[in-house]
Amino acid sequence: QMRGQCPFHAADGGVRALLGRTNKDWWPDALQLDILTQNGASPDPMGTEFKYADAFKKLDYQALKADLRALMTDSQSWWPADYGHYGPFFIRMAWHSAGTYRTADGRGGSGSGQQRFAPLNSWPDNGNLDKARRLLWPIKRKYGKNISWADLFILAGNVAIESMGGPVFGFGGGRPDSFEPERDIYWGTEEAWVDTGAQTRIQPDKGWELESPLAAIQMGLIYVNPEGPGGIPNPFQSARDMRVTFERMGMNDEETVALTAGGHAFGKAHGAVPADQLSGAPESEAMELMGFGWATDADQIEKGHITTSGIEGAWTPNPTQWGGDYFRLLFKYEFELVRSPAGAHQWQPINPDPEDMAPDARDPSRRVPTMMTTADMALKMDPEYRKISERFRDDQAALDDAFARAWFKLCHRDMGPKARYLGPEVPAEDLIWQDPVPAGTTPSEDDVAAFKSAILASGFPISALVKASWASASTYRRSDHRGGANGARIRLAPQKDWAVNDPQELAGVLSRIEELRGSLSMADAIVLAGSAAVEKAARDAGFDVTVPFTGGRGDASEAQTDADSFAVLEPRADAFRNYLATKQTVKTEEIMLDRAHLLGLSIPQMAVLVGGLRVLGANAGNSRKGVLTDRPGLLTNDFFVNLLDMGTKWKTVDESGDEEFVGTDRATGEERWRATRTDLVFGSNSQLRAVSEVYAEIGNEQKFVDDFIAAWVKVMNADRFDIA
Ligand code: HEM
Repeated sequence: QMRGQCPFHAADGGVRALLGRTNKDWWPDALQLDILTQNGASPDPMGTEFKYADAFKKLDYQALKADLRALMTDSQSWWPADYGHYGPFFIRMAWHSAGTYRTADGRGGSGSGQQRFAPLNSWPDNGNLDKARRLLWPIKRKYGKNISWADLFILAGNVAIESMGGPVFGFGGGRPDSFEPERDIYWGTEEAWVDTGAQTRIQPDKGWELESPLAAIQMGLIYVNPEGPGGIPNPFQSARDMRVTFERMGMNDEETVALTAGGHAFGKAHGAVPADQLSGAPESEAMELMGFGWATDADQIEKGHITTSGIEGAWTPNPTQWGGDYFRLLFKYEFELVRSPAGAHQWQPINPDPEDMAPDARDPSRRVPTMMTTADMALKMDPEYRKISERFRDDQAALDDAFARAWFKLCHRDMGPKARYLGPEVPAEDLIWQDPVPAGTTPSEDDVAAFKSAILASGFPISALVKASWASASTYRRSDHRGGANGARIRLAPQKDWAVNDPQELAGVLSRIEELRGSLSMADAIVLAGSAAVEKAARDAGFDVTVPFTGGRGDASEAQTDADSFAVLEPRADAFRNYLATKQTVKTEEIMLDRAHLLGLSIPQMAVLVGGLRVLGANAGNSRKGVLTDRPGLLTNDFFVNLLDMGTKWKTVDESGDEEFVGTDRATGEERWRATRTDLVFGSNSQLRAVSEVYAEIGNEQKFVDDFIAAWVKVMNADRFDIA
């Protein structure tokens, strides 16, 4: 059961800004490079011509893998490999790169190599991963544009697992790097990182709920505090935190156990020295450290006197070898609570047999005790986790399969459909979380034309056709590339029943499209219905235009659809259809901005779509709010003209405050219009007003129509990775 998944729903009902605490709050003195990204200037040195997918196809994949394998045991003096093998370190790097993903808004994850930038490069949970990334630089440099950092992080994790005998399910490349910190993601509002006090986001006064869309239990963590909630070593409460946070990235109990136990078959935790002996995080560090943080003396590093999490020790006697030791030890021994040299809570086996001791990370002839974190202990203490753990203890093949699949899901969950995967190791098997869509065929021009005339003659209003297409395509989010018109999942549960889609009206339109579509797929026909309606609306307004159409979409079946997992795509607010289910914790116009970003729209594209959809009458519930025209159903710039008309005086009418407004004739006092925040913001906000003026100007009527159509087509094709 998905709980608290609406991205704008706070557990405590509080109000928040869209982005919460941002890089500028954490590092007010940081070099503000974004002054150079004004006026559309891109920070991406590769330029717009560069297509990463094409470059990846020229990659010598096997040579890269061989180099990565060699790197695993090529220990560097500035950060020697524990046990002579960097594999575990790279697995943790890959897992933390992917593990920021959350289902509620699809953001986070390894998709653009964000671990290179603030705040992620400086999160306490990412401690010392700056070194792991730097170890990869010679290889990144060698293969250059043919492999992105984002892909390299994940591939390094895969090769690490393979090189230590672990099971791997496959690898899909295709994550293009970004060259700037993401500015659209909400990481929370706390003003301190995790380690400055006993805080946790799950509180009794918040109904034990984790604020959505967050998927970590505290600011600066990937998921949970390894020492236990708020640093309190309680494995049962740790299980609660783990369940909530892993669920937020779409992982069930079995996947959670397999991932955590499988990961901790490898490597060690670092807590040999008190954390107050370390310097700050990379983003705030001295220039001469060249991007490194958490600095320690070279001789300390040499000796392995390193602190990362503060917990110290390996989980198993064979930290560079895949196997069943983790569960064997977890169940063989009773554990006592101890403190690491850095002062962290951790659990130590009582009276371990000598062969169950771990080698020292620098001196294999020395044996040291193994350990478990409080989160590891949860896998034994929580009754549900325990059942799974015992099964895996007794059935290594089951663990192998579960770990390999869960790791693959972890690392690819934010990549969207399989059409985006590249390379020779893409698994043939379709997985339900990939939202599979069968290939479609391109319809003939005659069939397209015949369908367009038939649907226009079917008697449905322009608005109903436009709404069906919009409902179908606008679920797309570029964060994890889910949703969109391809697959025609609009005709399946749960989407067909979403309130924002006016289910009854939609069902009528869809069944008529089904009757008329002939050889077209439903997915193509739904898009085409709206496009035909837009063309007619433009024609009726005196503009002879064609809406470009690219067919070839396929129709997904119910069996290919994990209905539960689509719940997170349901809009609780959709400015484009002037819809607001209930007041959210974030301002309605900020939710509009968020949605526009997920659709990949620019400011003018957002404006022209809102203005155009209003005059087409595309509102949910067919409300008149914001329909600032006397001739609805015609594609005109009336919305902008009337919005900016000083003859209208606006005031709030909504008793709950400021969501609805009435516009009256300034002279007569007569009511002219009704509108919402997401209408008036295009006149009240100075920057949006500047754009509205352009679309209202005499001489720009055609521009308005052309821009609307271009933005419309962009949304209709947003998920067409097959034609990109
Ligand atoms: C290391 C906690 C899940 C893979 C660690 C460390 C901690 C930790 C505290 C020690 C870091 C250090 O001090 O160097 C947790 C918790 C988890 C979790 C609380 C979830 C509840 C995972 C998962 C994976 C993973 C899902 C991968 C599938 C690793 C590996 C290391 C590690 C390979 C060793 C790194 C090294 O040797 O340098 N983890 N982890 N962990 N973790 Fe996890």
